[in-house]
Amino acid sequence: MRLGIDFGTSNCAAAAVVDGQVRAVDFDGAAQFRTTVWFPDVMRDADQFELDDAMASQVDQLVEGFTRDARASGRSRSAQAMRSEAIRIVRREWMEARMREPASSTTLLQNAVYGDAALDAYFIEEEGNLVQSPKSMLGYQLHPRARQTIAGIAAHILEHIRLTASRQFGEPVRTAMLGRPVQFRSSIGDAGNEQALGILREAALQAGFDAVEFLEEPAAAAMAHHAASQQRHEVVVVDIGGGTTDIAHASVGGAQPPQVHRAWGIPRGGTDIDLALSLTAYMPLFGRGITRVPNHHYVEAAMVQDMPRQREFRTHKYDEVDAPYGPRLAALQEASNTSRLYREVEGCKIALSSQDEHNSPLYFIERALQITTPAPVLDDAAAGYLRELNTLLAQVRQDIGHDPAVVFVTGGMSRAPYLRAAAAAAFPGAELVIGDASFGVVAGLAHAAAAALPA
Ligand SMILES: Nc1ncnc2c1ncn2[C@@H]1O[C@H](COP(=O)(O)OP(=O)(O)OP(=O)(O)O)[C@@H](O)[C@H]1O
Ligand SMILES: [Mg+2]
Repeated sequence: MRLGIDFGTSNCAAAAVVDGQVRAVDFDGAAQFRTTVWFPDVMRDADQFELDDAMASQVDQLVEGFTRDARASGRSRSAQAMRSEAIRIVRREWMEARMREPASSTTLLQNAVYGDAALDAYFIEEEGNLVQSPKSMLGYQLHPRARQTIAGIAAHILEHIRLTASRQFGEPVRTAMLGRPVQFRSSIGDAGNEQALGILREAALQAGFDAVEFLEEPAAAAMAHHAASQQRHEVVVVDIGGGTTDIAHASVGGAQPPQVHRAWGIPRGGTDIDLALSLTAYMPLFGRGITRVPNHHYVEAAMVQDMPRQREFRTHKYDEVDAPYGPRLAALQEASNTSRLYREVEGCKIALSSQDEHNSPLYFIERALQITTPAPVLDDAAAGYLRELNTLLAQVRQDIGHDPAVVFVTGGMSRAPYLRAAAAAAFPGAELVIGDASFGVVAGLAHAAAAALPA
């Protein structure tokens, strides 16, 4: 069983080709879940797994086998490496056996909650650790400890996906094709891409996969469009996600295999619009532009994906800031409130795609506090991202030198009419095809996994 995995900034999905058909992995009744995880207490990683006597002797047997194999093949392997490998295998089998038991016991054993349920758990418990969009941190300058934590979080999410897929398909899933953006979000330039791939590889291994490969996300979406196209044609695929915007130029459809000519990407997406909307529409309620609280405090509060910034925001003191702003900032510092505010901001961005105004109740800050945001405010907040998108689209049009037959849009942000319109306008001679916003990339990854990976 070869799985396609879309480990997205905002949402995760997985699918496999079974009997020639793409089958989505079902996560509590949905084909995707929010890339959010909550740990009630300290996160346990694979190395901290506790062996009982039976498992310990299984590990010893595996190590003996590895030692024999190494000797026979003349390869030298350290005792430590062989023991880690054996523990990984025993732990994986133990997890898979637990997965066949009722869900409640696995949740307890895994010690983590995923998706929207993670937010709810955090809101109810008001403690523990909430991690949102860990993908956006993979390319950042990370201390070794932070790198290990991020890898551990990614491993938990990938293991959740692997075990859910294994249960659904009735067999252990151990190989995967993972999507990757053309450019990861990075604070260290191009080195961020290598670091991100390294962390994902490490995480996949910890999660019990034996083999993973990567495919650029827009190339994957082109595979899905290929599978659905009778006639051969040229396409520009535009995948607008939460963290990145990725484009591929490909020839697809008909009997020939799909051919991806080139890919482009910028590390910008829906979360950049969320940040701008938060700063311009919501943060003035907390005194931004009115008080002398520095702007970076508001940026820290708004960026819920950035764990160091979130921690930093909670260290500030607002006793001296005049009411109502000081008390509101202090309320925003309370455990889950930046996440609650972010949920309102994102909801506002989505609502204003199709409505003239949107109301957010902010009772968690102040009992009667609420804010009504008219649609033109979103136009302003989205302007910076839209400029970058238009520059990218113009570059792609120039590099290709002509309009393709089709411009195919996918990714959650492609639901926004103003972004669809931008993609269409960049290629005026092309037909605009609206792909499945949530499923385009993962369907292509499933096809690519079926074609490329060992079973
Ligand atoms: N109806 C909508 N209108 C506007 N934006 C939307 C809508 N639905 C979802 N979004 C936005 O789409 C983004 C998520 O898209 P998607 O699920 O494709 O991202 P992702 O694959 O997780 O991220 P990436 O590919 O960048 O890693 C979020 O920013 C979300 O707010
Ligand atoms: Mg995506």
